[in-house]
Amino acid sequence: MTTSSRDEKLVLGIESTAHTFGVGIASSAGRILANVNYVYAPKAGGIHPREAAQHHGRVAARALKETFEKAGVRPKDIDGVAFSMGPGMGPCLRVGATVARAIALKLGKPLIGVNHSVAHIEIGRLMTGCRDPVILYVAGGNTMIAGYIDGRYRVFGETLDIAAGNCLDVFGIKAGIGPMPAPEEYARRGEKFHPLPYRVKGMDVSFSGLLTAALKLIGSIKLEDLCLSITETVYSMLTETLERALAYTEKKEILLVGGLARSRRLREMIEEMARLHGARVYCAPPEYAGDNGAMIAWTGVLQLIAGQTLSIEESRVKPRFRMDEAEARWRELGL
Ligand code: FE2
Repeated sequence: MTTSSRDEKLVLGIESTAHTFGVGIASSAGRILANVNYVYAPKAGGIHPREAAQHHGRVAARALKETFEKAGVRPKDIDGVAFSMGPGMGPCLRVGATVARAIALKLGKPLIGVNHSVAHIEIGRLMTGCRDPVILYVAGGNTMIAGYIDGRYRVFGETLDIAAGNCLDVFGIKAGIGPMPAPEEYARRGEKFHPLPYRVKGMDVSFSGLLTAALKLIGSIKLEDLCLSITETVYSMLTETLERALAYTEKKEILLVGGLARSRRLREMIEEMARLHGARVYCAPPEYAGDNGAMIAWTGVLQLIAGQTLSIEESRVKPRFRMDEAEARWRELGL
């Protein structure tokens, strides 16, 4: 090993839940040695699971080779092999799991099954230095408010139908301007706010009625105003539920993760709310906000230290793997 001391553990991580096939290497010293991601872009419409899986199969060998080259380590220097176990699309998950099993068996190293949602949180904590945040995980496929309590990340609230990112992406595509960030860019030139359905139940949210109502208004009001109305409504709903979770848990940190965490306006609204509660807002840097291999590698490091590894027999993927089903034993170790 050229770049690490002998007691520094290295974990290879593989992400393949949806459109991204990502490979990363992280060390127990909190270093990301490589983060290589290949993103499948469908020619039209949404992600087709089988086509995305075929994409992942095509790029896997190349992504692995690049990762080892970038990290400057040899496969035999790896101490564990982590993969995204779920939640995600079955065919996509199976590609990552198969690659991980093959490498773990060949190298004779432990296999580590990582919950994808937990990995978003852990890379966010590593990159921002926050300790015990309330988390808003917002992306194309996920909308969740969570926090660590008694050994696990608990879900306080979530979407009852479609994800916030999906709502804005579909709206943008149907309006002819494309997915996010286009709706937010158009919203900056909007002047008039039109009320749209606002659905918050406790700490849960619902976006499908809002999307239907906004789609019906395309063509009858100025597109910039409609973009302003839909983005402000979605972000207000997220901010309100996050505020409730903050008051409920009495935590003093907020962490934004997932692709939609890149939104400037969402962050602005949340920062304004946080100020009133004396809380600080942390945001995963863009390279680590969306799906990536490094987040699986880093969570793999934490699980390896906490002894959370798997046998090959236990390594079946879990397309519906919920965040609160995953133990987070490293948190009890103060990590
Ligand atoms: Fe994700």
